[in-house]
Amino acid sequence: MSNITFTMIKPDAVQAGHIGAILAKINEAGFRIKAMKMTKLSAEKAGSFYAVHSERPFYGELCDFMSSGHIVAAILEKENAVADFRKLIGATDPSKAEEGTIRKLFAKSMGENAVHGSDSDENAQIEAAFFFSNLEQF
Ligand code: RTP
Ligand code: MG
Repeated sequence: MSNITFTMIKPDAVQAGHIGAILAKINEAGFRIKAMKMTKLSAEKAGSFYAVHSERPFYGELCDFMSSGHIVAAILEKENAVADFRKLIGATDPSKAEEGTIRKLFAKSMGENAVHGSDSDENAQIEAAFFFSNLEQF
């Protein structure tokens, strides 16, 4: 089993000045940062990152939003990283997220929900490689 997950701090949270607070939550929860960068996705790159959702009605909106501003991408390491990080970020819809979760604290809506977290070990590897070469992982 893999011990990494991939995350992005999404444009809404970067714009609102929450990078530091979100990284603090991630550190407090015991994740080690293995790679990190601030960047901006083109609509095309956002589309290929979320290609699994290309048939969904919210896909266009999702690509527009994810390319609307800067994001912070990171690879995080911890035992049971994927499941533990999904628990830390909370439900996709922040109104349904548990108290204390990153989405409960910082997300605005279902669409603009502050952070991404990989949903499987396999996708964590794919998503990490989408943003970082081996030389950028420590
Ligand atoms: P993510 O991939 O970003 O970590 O989010 P997730 O697993 O919790 O949710 P997922 O089903 O993978 O959806 C990806 C992102 O698409 C947007 N979304 N909008 N308007 C809608 O009904 C809707 N549903 C999903 C969200 O930004 C969600 O995080
Ligand atoms: Mg997802």
